[in-house]
Amino acid sequence: MPTSIVILAAGQGKRMHSNLPKVLQPLGGHCLLEHVVDTAASLPEALLYVVHGHGGEQVKQTLDHLDVTWVHQAEQLGTGHAVAQALPRVADDDVVLILYGDVPLVRADTMAALTEAAADGALALLTTRLADPAGYGRIVRDDSDAITRVVEDKDASEAERTIDEVNTGLLAAPASMLRKWVEQLGNDNAQREYYLTDVIAMAVADGITVAGIAAPPDEVLGVNDRVQLSVAEAALRERSAAALMAAGVTLRDPGRIDVRGDLVCGRDVLIDVNCVFEGSVHVGDGVHIGPNCIVRNAQIGADTEILPNSLIDGAEVGANCRIGPFARLRPQARLADEVHVGNFVEVKKSEIGHGSKANHLTYIGDASIGSGVNVGAGTITCNYDGVNKYRTVIGDNVFVGSDTQLVAPVTVGSGATIGAGSTITKDVPADQLALSRSRQTTVPGWKRPEKKKT
Ligand code: UD1
Ligand code: CA
Repeated sequence: MPTSIVILAAGQGKRMHSNLPKVLQPLGGHCLLEHVVDTAASLPEALLYVVHGHGGEQVKQTLDHLDVTWVHQAEQLGTGHAVAQALPRVADDDVVLILYGDVPLVRADTMAALTEAAADGALALLTTRLADPAGYGRIVRDDSDAITRVVEDKDASEAERTIDEVNTGLLAAPASMLRKWVEQLGNDNAQREYYLTDVIAMAVADGITVAGIAAPPDEVLGVNDRVQLSVAEAALRERSAAALMAAGVTLRDPGRIDVRGDLVCGRDVLIDVNCVFEGSVHVGDGVHIGPNCIVRNAQIGADTEILPNSLIDGAEVGANCRIGPFARLRPQARLADEVHVGNFVEVKKSEIGHGSKANHLTYIGDASIGSGVNVGAGTITCNYDGVNKYRTVIGDNVFVGSDTQLVAPVTVGSGATIGAGSTITKDVPADQLALSRSRQTTVPGWKRPEKKKT
């Protein structure tokens, strides 16, 4: 059955004390609303509507790439009023699933359980039990344990406030019924709002089954302030660590890895503590990543070893490479197989060929380096003249002596050798030795100055 999914995201999120609308706050590398939309979009035959209002233009612009229909709620008059803005677009024989833009960790299975119950003609309500239910709508049940209504915290009696079963806000119902109930909502309550939760009592009055579906609290966590945001981040961290381990990755400590984006790993990958993965990262079979590494939008080939404290950003690394410790690969660094990039080496917008090595204290920028090249310690490609950037081209099997400056644009032919301490400003022919340094002299009989006697 087609499902119209209405995501409520018009609220301001006052308690964030932020210039960013709440649903744009980041969680695990995506914003809150993206999490909800991504999961919802995985349901079959789903049409997505996002009700936006507060900071609406910014929300729309930031998330323009999402495949959703935007519905504007000019004034935030309550959750029932928000749903009413979307319902005119929904077909009568759809099931409607209501989600919140600030409840980001609900699983697809849970959403599906709600829509399935609604497809059977019920009003399905997602509930949970909380040690501290303060602030939430409470689930009121009768003597036979059937749900009779939801009462908001601000409208609840002393007795009702002791109920620990709460409304998560998520519900599903057949569109035709929901439409009828929403049209009848009033705002005669403590907050003068049109409460969506009032439809539960209406369903009961119409003799419609109200199916309560229980969810674990960490799945239905709402994000209203930065403490809750950090709790959601921790829950997500735990979830992605569990998924990685289930897929065959060894984590030295599942509590000390941050995946802020999408990390895909092959078999027998080992990740040591305090690593951060951002954006889209692909790690091949048998890769070992040492402690304190940051890997962002990168691809790492099989059996490569990343040693501690390395930063890999927008780079492609081949198989059997050795990177770090303390290496920095910047965007468009492309390393073939068996390349070694050692400590305090920075590589930017450069290709390094098969088996080449730059093991110590080097800057390689805007360069093409062939295979089998040895780049000595302290080598610098001088790619920038203060205005423009130029390329350095190094052929296969070149030996670059330590402390060499390659002033681009410059080409070093295959098999050439550059003597240590050279400043190379002219092209070097293949298979030749190039040096540029003043000859060493010895001054015979020279003596160190001595302190004057007074
Ligand atoms: C709501 C529920 C409460 C439940 C709680 C769970 C109602 C009346 N109450 O309360 O039973 O326990 O969620 O977190 O539904 N929104 C709009 N437009 C509006 C008002 C709200 O889009 O006019 C959106 C908000 O952006 C948010 C969601 O709806 O994503 C919930 O609104 P919020 O004001 O936080 O509801 P609660 O008072 O927390
Ligand atoms: Ca809320």
